[in-house]
Amino acid sequence: NRRQFLAAVALSGFASACGSGAMSDPAAFRTELRVPPLLVPKVDKDGTRRFALTMQRGRSEILPGKPVETWGFNGPHLGPTIRVARGDRVRMAVTNRLDEASTVHWHGMRLPAKMDGGPHQMIEPGGTWSPHWTIDQPAATSWYHPHPHGATAEHVYRGLAGMFIIDDPAETELPAKYGIDDVPLILQDKNLAEDGSPTGDPLDGTFGILGEHMLVNGTHAPFLNVRTERVRFRILNGSNARMYHLAFADRRAFHVVGGDAGLLPAPVQVEQVSLTPGERVEVVAAFTAGEQVLLRTLSGSDDIDEGDFDLLKIVAAPRLAASPRLPSRLAGAPAPIAVPPNARVRRFQLNGHDAINRKEMDLSRIDEVVPAGATEIWEIENTVYAHNFHIHEVAFQVLDVDGEKPPAYGSGHKDTVYVPPKSTVRLAVRFGRFTDPATPYMYHCHILRHEDSGMMGQFVIVEPGTENQVPRTIATDH
Ligand code: C2O
Ligand code: CU
Ligand code: CU
Repeated sequence: NRRQFLAAVALSGFASACGSGAMSDPAAFRTELRVPPLLVPKVDKDGTRRFALTMQRGRSEILPGKPVETWGFNGPHLGPTIRVARGDRVRMAVTNRLDEASTVHWHGMRLPAKMDGGPHQMIEPGGTWSPHWTIDQPAATSWYHPHPHGATAEHVYRGLAGMFIIDDPAETELPAKYGIDDVPLILQDKNLAEDGSPTGDPLDGTFGILGEHMLVNGTHAPFLNVRTERVRFRILNGSNARMYHLAFADRRAFHVVGGDAGLLPAPVQVEQVSLTPGERVEVVAAFTAGEQVLLRTLSGSDDIDEGDFDLLKIVAAPRLAASPRLPSRLAGAPAPIAVPPNARVRRFQLNGHDAINRKEMDLSRIDEVVPAGATEIWEIENTVYAHNFHIHEVAFQVLDVDGEKPPAYGSGHKDTVYVPPKSTVRLAVRFGRFTDPATPYMYHCHILRHEDSGMMGQFVIVEPGTENQVPRTIATDH
């Protein structure tokens, strides 16, 4: 154990716990990882589960001993984890106790457009918004965050984000004891002033914030005590712009079991996974009694992934409880999306940092009209530097990136995908059954600075055959 620990220290190389570029010192990871509490619903007589979220300002210590203003849901920073099962009827009460209007978007959720929480569902200060829907999608790790047009970057950077876990009775035996062997990791980077408060303009420069301080669940330089042989991590890139290339310091292998929108058909063994903003990955990692190892991000060459940083120190207890064996096939994984031979192809070109197909986002313009139930090919061409692409409401699979198949771990159902500089990504997109020709869903780059400045478009899902009758302009009160 001691040998492994020293190996981990030696391998920590130039990674740094807090952005100074100094050698990483595992001893610096001494704040226990905060695990967002599970939000307990009230259950109505008819079984509806009611969840209450309040957006509020508060004070928290990002750096120990330095309380600063942060924003959160039901607390000073980030938000509780919502956990539901397929088939549940849910009703949210989202109250805005900020001084400005905002929204809450359920990223990854399949639901009617009016419940989506995009920029058309603004909640004024003091107001409460009560969307409701039935959970009808495979097991997945989703999340929630504000989506007010032009201010998403700021609201998320201040701390508004939370996990939204969907269980499925069909799901395989994977570790599922929340906070014990099923642990959410919300990765975010910040720039911090002397007094510990987040600084920087999230709408500045080409990408907005690329922070030098790494937070996991809002915890700076955290450690996590592990008491089981295997741990499932549900990892969310909740950063404004940063891309992570995650690996353990000793480069041990681990298994990816799920992506944004569901489990993979089988675990995929990797030594490294990449995540752009908004993407999630579920992994299962194995630990040996008594060892310590750092989880880190490695720098890349795409502007949004500069710098090696250690993120989390994992400390395995001297005795570990046995974990279920990792199944070779993952029950509950969604079936592959079949593309019909006559599938419609839509092309999207990402221009600069603020436009798609040369148009900036316009809340009153419907850009695309899609018939319900369609499976289409969406082709995303990036003419410049790093972007990604997120589509509300749907699940998609990556067909290819510049003609090449995606890595196995990225080939499952997703809702957000990296679009590397000067490349083209083709997606097989399956659209749902919900129809509301007057309320659009969004598609956009999830680098929040880009989304806020207009790299976003709107689509509606309509009754097949009515595409031409749908108004292309809608009234907006914002
Ligand atoms: Cu994470 Cu349009 O959203
Ligand atoms: Cu979304
Ligand atoms: Cu972008």
